[in-house]
Amino acid sequence: METVLQIKNLTKRYGRLTAVNKLNLEIQKGCVFGILGPNGSGKTTTLGILLDVINKTDGDFSWFGQPATKEMRKRVGAILETPIFYPYLSAVKNLEIVAAIKGAPVANIEPVLKKVELYERRFDKFRTYSLGMKQRLSIASALLCDPEVMILDEPTNGLDPQGIAEIRRLIKEIAADGKTIILASHLLDEVQKVCTHFCILKKEI
Ligand SMILES: Nc1ncnc2c1ncn2[C@@H]1O[C@H](COP(=O)(O)OP(=O)(O)OP(=O)(O)O)[C@@H](O)[C@H]1O
Ligand SMILES: [Mg+2]
Repeated sequence: METVLQIKNLTKRYGRLTAVNKLNLEIQKGCVFGILGPNGSGKTTTLGILLDVINKTDGDFSWFGQPATKEMRKRVGAILETPIFYPYLSAVKNLEIVAAIKGAPVANIEPVLKKVELYERRFDKFRTYSLGMKQRLSIASALLCDPEVMILDEPTNGLDPQGIAEIRRLIKEIAADGKTIILASHLLDEVQKVCTHFCILKKEI
């Protein structure tokens, strides 16, 4: 067993409000780990801290058994909220821009578009995509660096049943490729359907 992520007593306070209260968690390589909890239970805050976009108040975490560094972060892909793509550019153009920013190989664009089943539509403008397609492009964008870990925050929010089924199938496929997945969701059903392990966050009263 290889520990990908260890969280110890992680705490985040916003003034008097405690968003995350002494969270302890260990996630092993290869699992699909669900963070289940109602609205406001601190899922997005936790993921934001793990990705260094939110400052923690207290506690600690380590990726791959080491303190967080920029290099380490390259091994973790994420979709926290729908990223902004250029509406008048195609999927290919948008991913070329992402690749340039992240320093990912341009050669990865074609395989990731195939993986998320957008290859046929790759030259269409982003603004013409359905919500499900936009979400799949975000996943493609997170896969560009070929990360070992994928973080997905509510990946099926707002999608219709077919879109939800497509994203869930894609998550399982990505897991089958050997990536560790950390997925936040408020849907018990979603966590039951795609996760191998899970934890439950509850809201402070
Ligand atoms: N920037 C902020 N300033 C103040 N309070 C915040 C801030 N961000 C989040 N919070 C609060 O922290 C708590 C946890 O919010 P968070 O977004 O992490 O929950 P969540 O589990 O992701 O919820 P959801 O299911 O609605 O996405 C909430 O009470 C929220 O109001
Ligand atoms: Mg959230």
